[in-house]
Amino acid sequence: MPIRKVLVTGGAGFIGSHVADAYLERGDEVWIVDDLSSGRMENVPARAEFVEMDIRDPEVRTLFEDVRFDLVNHHAAQIDVRFSVADPAGDASINLMGLLNLTEAALDVGTQRMVFVSSGGVVYGEPEQIPTPESAPKLPLSPYGVTKLGGEYYLNYYRRIHGLEYVALRYSNVFGPRQDPHGEAGVVAIFCSRLLDERPLTVFGDGEQTRDYVYVGDVVAANMLASDTELTDGPGLDARAFNVGTGTGTSVLQLADVLEGIAGVSLPRNHEPARPGELRHSTLDSGLIRSKGWAPAFTLERGLQETYEYIANQRSRAQA
Ligand SMILES: NC(=O)c1ccc[n+]([C@@H]2O[C@H](COP(=O)([O-])OP(=O)(O)OC[C@H]3O[C@@H](n4cnc5c(N)ncnc54)[C@H](O)[C@@H]3O)[C@@H](O)[C@H]2O)c1
Repeated sequence: MPIRKVLVTGGAGFIGSHVADAYLERGDEVWIVDDLSSGRMENVPARAEFVEMDIRDPEVRTLFEDVRFDLVNHHAAQIDVRFSVADPAGDASINLMGLLNLTEAALDVGTQRMVFVSSGGVVYGEPEQIPTPESAPKLPLSPYGVTKLGGEYYLNYYRRIHGLEYVALRYSNVFGPRQDPHGEAGVVAIFCSRLLDERPLTVFGDGEQTRDYVYVGDVVAANMLASDTELTDGPGLDARAFNVGTGTGTSVLQLADVLEGIAGVSLPRNHEPARPGELRHSTLDSGLIRSKGWAPAFTLERGLQETYEYIANQRSRAQA
């Protein structure tokens, strides 16, 4: 495979930094654009070129003209559902205007493909079909869900009218090393930290709400596939979208049980009222990307073990 110039936006963040590692590992040249609003320098791979920049900055175009990226992998985003509800314009500014700034620059320099990170946890709203396939109705219930879906619509426009190729990956709840407690699967990081402090786990509602927890290593593999896979044609959004999840729903109570087993502690649970607006169930049918050869390699237990150990190691390093 020829060496490619790859831009990873959000590459100082949780998932983007793992994706940047993987491109470097297979020999690509990697640039990272991140404004460090939630990302951290310590996540940035040493061999990547780091550019501290907001994706909305007009200087993005100069960077594209200088480097002429072959591939753009777009992970930078405003990812907080509650922020998007409080400030829909702020959310749209980053998630839509930022995307347009990158896309226009990519078009100008002839970038071959964009990998866009959408969210299977929000674009379908409260789905009727579980596990939810790509073809299910897209009825987001938050401004964040609207901007993720809007991003797919914009890229579909650029593909159909301007020929800029793209793939949208609709992640379920991603967890793993480097995640911080604020992401969509933040509960894993929160539970790990609480168990390390031997503090009771807080469960909202009855704890039977389910999510599809997918390990970050498997999400990285989906990104590598999306970067190269041959694409089928079709006018709609779903011709270029892949769900990325395990297909298995895990309840908060099950998650707490597995993590307590890993930590070797058992504490009383702290029950709080259900949070308004929270989805009851969310699990993705990833049959499409599986048909291209992707499959999760990590069991939930193994992924949680890796995550717990990472957080425990980080704490002992910080305390040393
Ligand atoms: N974590 C999940 O479970 C999950 C699920 C579905 C989709 N996603 C998507 O995956 C992507 C990465 O999420 P993450 O969980 O790694 O979050 P993260 O916060 O760790 O990563 C986002 C990165 O983008 C950077 N960023 C934010 N705004 C920016 C801007 N205006 N300009 C430049 N950089 C900016 C942040 O500094 C951060 O490094 C996001 O697009 C998110 O919507 C995540």
